[in-house]
Amino acid sequence: MTDSTSPAATAEPSRSDSGAQASGSGIRYVQFKDENDLPVVMNLVDQELSEPYSIFTYRYFLAQWPNLCYIAYDGDKPFGTVVCKMDVHRGQRMRGYVAMLVVDKAYRGKRVGSELVKMAISAMSAGGCEEVVLEAEVVNTGALKLYQGLGFVRDKRLHRYYLNGVDAYRLKLLLPETEERRLARLAEVAEAEAGAAELDGVPADAPALV
Ligand SMILES: CC(C)(COP(=O)(O)OP(=O)(O)OC[C@H]1O[C@@H](n2cnc3c(N)ncnc32)[C@H](O)[C@@H]1OP(=O)(O)O)[C@@H](O)C(=O)NCCC(=O)NCCS
Repeated sequence: MTDSTSPAATAEPSRSDSGAQASGSGIRYVQFKDENDLPVVMNLVDQELSEPYSIFTYRYFLAQWPNLCYIAYDGDKPFGTVVCKMDVHRGQRMRGYVAMLVVDKAYRGKRVGSELVKMAISAMSAGGCEEVVLEAEVVNTGALKLYQGLGFVRDKRLHRYYLNGVDAYRLKLLLPETEERRLARLAEVAEAEAGAAELDGVPADAPALV
């Protein structure tokens, strides 16, 4: 096993590394690319679960939001992944969701989990998300610590949320407004004001009264 604090693993991944980001420690973070990455993500996540997800669950996320999945590599060896989605929540705001996060036991405690989540959050923010949510078992100290460190707060406690009967915390992170979102919001306000003025009988393009 190559320790991430040791010199960088020099071998290039055998797959295309477009979308790869280097961490400066020899670990490479690669965005999910296509169906060839599917078994990589499945193997990593299944190692941690007593009841593996079906391939349909993986496809649901990865076919629609491949840009929200990252894989961490040490040389050619994949050892961590995050799987997410984003959509409009209750017809109001764009919400990101972290569905799966796994780091191989041998690589834990090196901030890889945090880095994977940060990359996914960046992509969600660029896609217009205003917030990110996820669930974690109330007994999952490591995950709770990681998310707390990234600014997530406990939003709700979900009673017996998991099949094993354990409660979950719903964690939430509010994202700062990006310039794109600010401009979109201002455009919406201007459009609404123009619509209201027209209803009042004032043409939308009438010069403003001083
Ligand atoms: C949770 C998990 C992804 C963490 O990955 P990781 O790469 O070891 O996490 P990081 O190194 O980024 O740790 C971030 C912070 O959490 C802390 N932490 C991580 N695991 C911890 C543990 N088991 N106990 C206590 N603290 C822990 C780290 O010390 C660090 O704290 P710091 O900011 O004060 O230094 C990994 O343990 C894992 O894959 N667990 C099994 C799957 C799982 O539970 N996924 C989450 C589902 S919600």
